[in-house]
Amino acid sequence: MPFGHTRDFGTKRFDARFRRGGLVSVPNHVAIIMDGNGRWAAQRGWARIKGHKEGVRAVEDVLDAAADAGIQHLSLYAFSTENWKRPSLEVAGLMALLRMYLRMFLPKLREKGIRFHHLGSLEGLPEGIQRDIHSLEETTAGYSNMVFHLAVNYGSRLEIVQAARRCLEDGLRAEEMTEDAIAARLWTAGTPDVDLLIRTSGELRISNFLLWQAAYAEFYITDCLWPDFRGPELREALAAFASRERRFGGI
Ligand code: IPE
Ligand code: IPE
Ligand code: MG
Repeated sequence: MPFGHTRDFGTKRFDARFRRGGLVSVPNHVAIIMDGNGRWAAQRGWARIKGHKEGVRAVEDVLDAAADAGIQHLSLYAFSTENWKRPSLEVAGLMALLRMYLRMFLPKLREKGIRFHHLGSLEGLPEGIQRDIHSLEETTAGYSNMVFHLAVNYGSRLEIVQAARRCLEDGLRAEEMTEDAIAARLWTAGTPDVDLLIRTSGELRISNFLLWQAAYAEFYITDCLWPDFRGPELREALAAFASRERRFGGI
């Protein structure tokens, strides 16, 4: 089946109505815009790359905490299609870090039974990273406690345009262009919508992340800079989510 088309991630099933009724308040899908690495480093008089390095430690902590909390899908925004605009030295540093950590994640994914999945376009990414992404996806394909979606070279508008193109390529007629048909062709195909969208570092914007999937997400913005966002901070966000009343347009 071509990449991005419908596939079942095989995580533990649960009853969506049960959750909506408020009886189970752990979000099924948590997405995080990991922002503030540069400012974290600047506050210490360090180079920005040090903030990115510390940010990867936060990723490991949050992976642990999310799996322990029973979250089924965790989507982390690591590099956007707009981040190519950054100075080439920073982009190269980020790619090098990414490559190193894609390899280092494996023991953690094994230990916790976490499946890895890339969100974004492989096109334009260094070949080494493309290979590492494939290999991590393949190695962890059988794990089912949680899916860790890492957004690298991800842009939501690009994702939606690609999905629309795929609909045309698949020969869909106008009446077949449904929400389900489009959702099945997004990089997140087979993944439930985002329940909780977290952004660190206090910025009040979505920066082209999961625009379609976050249509009814609860927002949680914290001033905490990403390298300082760890298990306790995630649990605080989950507690805030548990107190929200979701109406989905109803009353
Ligand atoms: C987020 O931190 C990481 C990436 C976007 C790669 P930033 O690098 O955006 O940090 P700030 O926003 O400049 O502090
Ligand atoms: C969003 O952060 C992208 C990622 C976290 C990967 P940015 O720092 O790039 O977002 P803007 O530029 O402040 O919107
Ligand atoms: Mg930023």
